[in-house]
Amino acid sequence: MTTRPIDSFASAFPISSPEATTASESTLWQIASLHMLQRIIEPLLAVKECPSPSFPHFWDSWTRFAEKIPTYSLIAERKKQILENKEEWRPYIEQAEANDPAFYHRIRTLLETGSLKPIEQGMSGTYLLLDLEGVPQYILKPSDEEMFCLNNHKHHGTPLGEGDIQGEFPLYRTAQAGTLSYLIAERLHLTNITPKTALICHENPIFFDICDTLSFNEKQDFIEKTGPVDREKLCCIQEYLPHTADLFSWILSHDQAATPPIDERDFEDANLFLWMTYDLDGHPENFLLSPSRSHDSYHLHKIDNARTFPERNHGFSNILAFLPQAELPLSAYLRDKLTNIPISSILEDMEKLGFTKSQGALMERVHLLLHLAKQPDISLYEINLRMMILGQPGGKEVAYENLPIKELEKQLQS
Ligand SMILES: Nc1ncnc2c1ncn2[C@@H]1O[C@H](COP(=O)(O)OP(=O)(O)OP(=O)(O)O)[C@@H](O)[C@H]1O
Ligand SMILES: [Mg+2]
Repeated sequence: MTTRPIDSFASAFPISSPEATTASESTLWQIASLHMLQRIIEPLLAVKECPSPSFPHFWDSWTRFAEKIPTYSLIAERKKQILENKEEWRPYIEQAEANDPAFYHRIRTLLETGSLKPIEQGMSGTYLLLDLEGVPQYILKPSDEEMFCLNNHKHHGTPLGEGDIQGEFPLYRTAQAGTLSYLIAERLHLTNITPKTALICHENPIFFDICDTLSFNEKQDFIEKTGPVDREKLCCIQEYLPHTADLFSWILSHDQAATPPIDERDFEDANLFLWMTYDLDGHPENFLLSPSRSHDSYHLHKIDNARTFPERNHGFSNILAFLPQAELPLSAYLRDKLTNIPISSILEDMEKLGFTKSQGALMERVHLLLHLAKQPDISLYEINLRMMILGQPGGKEVAYENLPIKELEKQLQS
């Protein structure tokens, strides 16, 4: 019972899928339009096909399983998994707090004195943490409200478990993935690219629970059959970046031929960051732009690192590959960074955050990057193509072959 919604749901434009577009055939604007269409259509379809009026937030494809599986026991199982996951990571959080008391003190104070406001944008349950003056300070994402998790209320909730939905990306690990991504950014001196991110447990009545759409009587029965409501959740918390616009909005508000003048160093750093995390969700809403001090270019930031570090290199998604800057050759700066990746520290971080099963896939990528860094005049676009090819059947060999760009593009579409 394995389906793969990653390509059609999680990645807004799966550039490694058979329908993938390539830089030579498709403009950034076309990709952005597709992304917009998908954002509009998905929730509508999910609502229309939903089998259970009690759980209107359930993902439509759940219908295929709903009749065959005892829903209550499945929900009870997920609730137990969510609780165990939280308890498993509590000691890690205590240790992280002891190592960085000032950071956690600030967050805990804000959580006590400020307020949480749900963000409508996106597919997951995401909350803005506002200070007393109503100014956003952090982004809080409960692990069990992510896409395909039990308490997601944006039409992508499901009681299905790991293996039933996503082959290579285990569910209920997105908070750890976001945290690991930041640790890797620290190791590679890329903290300019992604905001500080950490794990935390927090209880708040605003958090969504699957029983919130039930009537009072239904709720009692439901809780008896599936277990108590728990609004203390394992969350990922990320610093909020003020004064930004996402790349998607920028593209839509400009001329079709326009491309944002992104700081060159940031552009390279962000690509390296994505190659290392092998992001499955690198769509244009997950990149933010902020004006540089001189106001003649933008700094680039990557947010939402939840779908990263897959156990198998498959489904890489990186909108940056379609920007004209990607055609530039690899600079001496990035070449140097690639040849000095602190591999053993990164592997240690992966172990700490529970991603040992993803270490093999990371090593495959690092090996390829070290090989590509030796190629004279190789462009960022070509590296991205080869990173995508790595995830195809037979891709581990083809990614190393001496093929012209056109052949590589054809390979991706085959
Ligand atoms: N660190 C941040 N700084 C500023 N704004 C942010 C930050 N993180 C998230 N946001 C805003 O909140 C929105 C939703 O956040 P996020 O992308 O993490 O949620 P999501 O539901 O997982 O998205 P997706 O549908 O891509 O999976 C973003 O599109 C962005 O506008
Ligand atoms: Mg997002």
